[in-house]
This record gives sequence, C-alpha cells and structure tokens, in this order.
Amino acid sequence: MKPGKLTLPELAAMKTRGEKIVMVTAYDAPGARLAEEAGIDILLVGDTAGMVVLGHEGTVPVTMDEMLFLTRTVARTTQRPLVVGDMPFGSYHVSDEDAVRNAIRFVKEADADVVKLEGAGPSLSRVGAIVSAGIGVMGHVGLTPQSETILGGFKTQGRTASKAQQVLADALALEAAGCFAVVLEAVPAAVAARVTEALTVPTIGIGAGSECDGQVLVYHDLLGLTEGRAPRFVKRYANLAGEIRAALTTYADEVRSGVYPAEEHSYSMPEEELEVFSGASDAAGQRFDRSVQTDDQAKPARPDGGTASGASEGIQHAHHDG
Ligand code: KIV
Repeated sequence: MKPGKLTLPELAAMKTRGEKIVMVTAYDAPGARLAEEAGIDILLVGDTAGMVVLGHEGTVPVTMDEMLFLTRTVARTTQRPLVVGDMPFGSYHVSDEDAVRNAIRFVKEADADVVKLEGAGPSLSRVGAIVSAGIGVMGHVGLTPQSETILGGFKTQGRTASKAQQVLADALALEAAGCFAVVLEAVPAAVAARVTEALTVPTIGIGAGSECDGQVLVYHDLLGLTEGRAPRFVKRYANLAGEIRAALTTYADEVRSGVYPAEEHSYSMPEEELEVFSGASDAAGQRFDRSVQTDDQAKPARPDGGTASGASEGIQHAHHDG
C-alpha cells in the first residue's frame, strides 16, 4: 500500500465522525492528479468511461482490458485517494471464480486498492468470494447502469414503498456480504437517508440526496465536459467543454492565419552558427539539386516504360553524399 493511502478503517471512521466522504470518477493521469490535489478521498475508475471517454452509449461494452488500462493510469498517478476499480459488465456475472479472478487482475495488474460491482442477488456471493480473497468491495444499488435494459433505462429506483424496501434490503445484504461501502444511485433522498441510517458502512450517494455519508459525481459531468441534458442530480461546477472548444477554435484560427507560432514560441540559435549553417545548407541544396537531376537522367527505364520517382531517392543520395 502506498504511504499516506486512505485506508478502509479511516473511511469507516469518517462515517462515525459524520465527516462527508468525497468521491469522483477518474480515468486518466491529469484528472486523477487534479482530483488528488483537490483533496478528493476516493477515485472511482468507473465503467462510465464507456460513455464519457470511450464513446459508447452505455457501460455494457466496456471490457476488462479497457478498465485495467484506465485504472493503472489513475493508480500510478496518485498516492492518497483510495482507487476503486469498477468491474465491467461480464467480469463478475458468470461465477464467483470469475469474479475473484478479475478482481485479482484489478489489484495485481492495475494497482487498484479495491473493486466495485453492481447489484445484490447473485452479486452477494461474488462480494463474499472477493472479500474472502482479501480484496475490498464497494457495492452499488438503486440505479445500476449495467442492468439498464432490465430497469427500463436510466430511471430513478425505489419510488414505491416496496421498491424502497428492496433497495434497503439489498444494501443491508451487501453490507452483510462484506462490502466496505455502498453506492446508492438515483433513489429518493428519504430512502437513501433510511439506508444510510441502517448501514454501519458508509453510503456514497449519486442522485440520492444529502443524507448519504458521501457523494460521487462523474468527473466529466461536474466539470461540464459533457453537454446537453444532464440527470437532475448533476451539478456543473465548470463549463470546460465551452472553454476547450473556444481555445481549440482560436488555435485553429491562429495556425491558419499565421498568428501562431509567434517569435516567443520559436527557438533561436547563435547568429554565427546560423551563418555557417546557411552557407553549408546552400551548398548542400545545390548538391541536392544536382543529384536529383543526375539520378533521374541516369535512371534506367522500367520494363513497363515508366521511370522510378527520382525525388525521394535523390534525398537519400544527398544524405549519403553528405
Ligand atoms: O461507473 C461509474 O462511474 C459509477 C458511478 C456513477 C457511481 O458507477
């Protein structure tokens, strides 16, 4: 474990002290570094990468190899925040053995501190198996995006008394199975508050009101890198998409108009070296011209009647001559 790393007992103590836990997703080195500098407690390398960095419509297509690549990048860049590797769809659905094998890959190959998986039901035995292998597991109930089709889309969960009861039962079952924390996504604030009160481990809310022990948002959402209609729970703390687009547009305009690069963006060399270089390069240029001509004139005709291009070969000859 890296020195200074936020530990699971410290996380549990934060709940006891009523200190809010701050989690954000991270997928690359600059994002992870900035998040650590901002004092974020937990970095979730979420499978939302599928949507916000890999260009998919949802999280289902994301592969283990993609998740390991992203997680490795975040882990190698950071010290203190707990790095959570999000197990992608298919990596824990077949069997406990598969789940343990893939959780081990997150820890061994990508340096994740812990893993996260979605749902209760069959996921409960996966949690038990992974925890028995010595790897911490964060649970995730309510809206579980990997089950988007079964849930009928990205919809709020637990809005009836019986569904709310199910969310509570699932969260309690995940705690009993060994989860060190549980994400509550898109559930009514009152339901999340009840779950938070019932669990001894921390709850991390996303669209689950203010009573959770911590909060998580997707990096690209909170920074305004994603545009268009966002879920109700998203608060945009910046408009980076607008800033980036404006900067790129100005760059393109300046390259096309010759404004960039200006003198201050260019390197100079000592005057006397430049004079020697200019003289030498004039002479080389003359030799180059001659060698191109000589080559073309000397080139035997190809059997198809054409001649081989002299220009690039001329450059080669000029180098050899030099
Ligand atoms: O993949 C992810 O980013 C998540 C968060 C939305 C909790 O699971």
